[in-house]
Amino acid sequence: MQNFDVVIVGAGAAGLFCAGVAGQLGLKVLLVDHSEKIAEKIRISGGGRCNFTNRDASPAQFLSENPHFCRSALSRYTPQDFIDLLRRYNIPFHEKHKGQLFCDRSAEDIINMLVAECDAGGVTRWQPCSVKDVTAEADGNYRLQTDRGPVSAGQVVIATGGLSIPKIGATDFGYRLARQFGLRLVEPRPALVPLTFDGEDWAPFAQLAGLALPVLVETGAADATPKQRKKATVFSEDLLFTHRGLSGPAVLQVSSFWQEGQPVRVNLAPGTDLPNLLLQAKARSKKLIANELASLVPSRLADAWVSADPALQRPISDATDKALQGLAQRLADWQLVPNGTEGYKKAEVTVGGVDTRDLSSQTMESKQPGLYFIGEVVDVTGWLGGYNFQWAWASAYACAQAL
Ligand code: FDA
Repeated sequence: MQNFDVVIVGAGAAGLFCAGVAGQLGLKVLLVDHSEKIAEKIRISGGGRCNFTNRDASPAQFLSENPHFCRSALSRYTPQDFIDLLRRYNIPFHEKHKGQLFCDRSAEDIINMLVAECDAGGVTRWQPCSVKDVTAEADGNYRLQTDRGPVSAGQVVIATGGLSIPKIGATDFGYRLARQFGLRLVEPRPALVPLTFDGEDWAPFAQLAGLALPVLVETGAADATPKQRKKATVFSEDLLFTHRGLSGPAVLQVSSFWQEGQPVRVNLAPGTDLPNLLLQAKARSKKLIANELASLVPSRLADAWVSADPALQRPISDATDKALQGLAQRLADWQLVPNGTEGYKKAEVTVGGVDTRDLSSQTMESKQPGLYFIGEVVDVTGWLGGYNFQWAWASAYACAQAL
């Protein structure tokens, strides 16, 4: 039996980073992953360039049953700390949009850096290697049955991530282990994921597949009061029509907040005073409504919208003010109820996970002494834009300091 101070299960973002820091603090670390390839999610992230953090990360961009849980870890390992690490490795990067930092060359730079950090800490890496069983022994140590034989360690860190993209190695190992040790779970569900609609409801919009436009989008209860709506998080990003529904950054963002049965509300013409502009057009133009509308929103959208309503297929000069105001109102507050999401196959992350009530926000240690959970397996989920990696680094760092 081989003995280690700590075994970390999952060599993704959080596991690799935690292993490197713990190793460099002098601990004898074993890092185990069942996948052939290391850190596959880092490799495919950010279109291959890894949006590795967000300059403006703060607890406000994270979802959790306890929104305060992430505070301590995020404040002790900041985006600037990770930027400093990249600079030590001379990794070039750039800011793309709203504080999002990407590698200039490739996500491979981040993976190589994390592996080099593990090497600097003398970390033992077993990959591919499956962990069959984890038990707490009477002597206070953990015993893990692995493909490469049994190992023993005083502490175990679970960094097996969420459920998204099962084909590159995502499993529910972390959740099962949490349950085995009596820890609570917040029901996991796919997030940062395209939304889908009933075939019939979607038929008029299916022709718009491929169209992208800037929108405002939010979600909430169908009967939300104006006060509740004021509190809803509104995203100002691009929306993308697909054959089955809606995607693009705006929709991925709102999908993390969406609950089954709730509508999403989309303003398809933000910053445009549609009611007034349509009434002005009526006063001066004999063109079809679709043609006038096409000067205010993308023409494909204008055509699809107007073709769904026979009352709008006429010259704008013939339309009633009420009809034009109704058209403007529907475009500015398009409400539609998704029938679901594209699921874990397409989701970037998982909302929910190990319940933070059973974890220390200072150390990530669970109520089961010596058992820690870091990264996406925990019920902390970031918005789109580099926040999920920042949580992986920050939770890993907090844990490594405590091991
Ligand atoms: P991660 O998933 O990285 O690692 C978990 C590891 O555990 C994997 O290596 C897996 O093989 C291993 N594992 C699982 N089960 C196991 C078992 N039973 N035994 C052993 N090992 C096991 N975020 C962001 O901030 N910026 C971005 O640009 C993107 N882009 C992006 C694109 C796409 C397509 C996806 C799917 C996701 C993103 N994300 C992202 C999210 C980000 O990738 C994610 O939040 C982090 O990788 C989470 O890090 P973890 O280390 O917690 O899990």
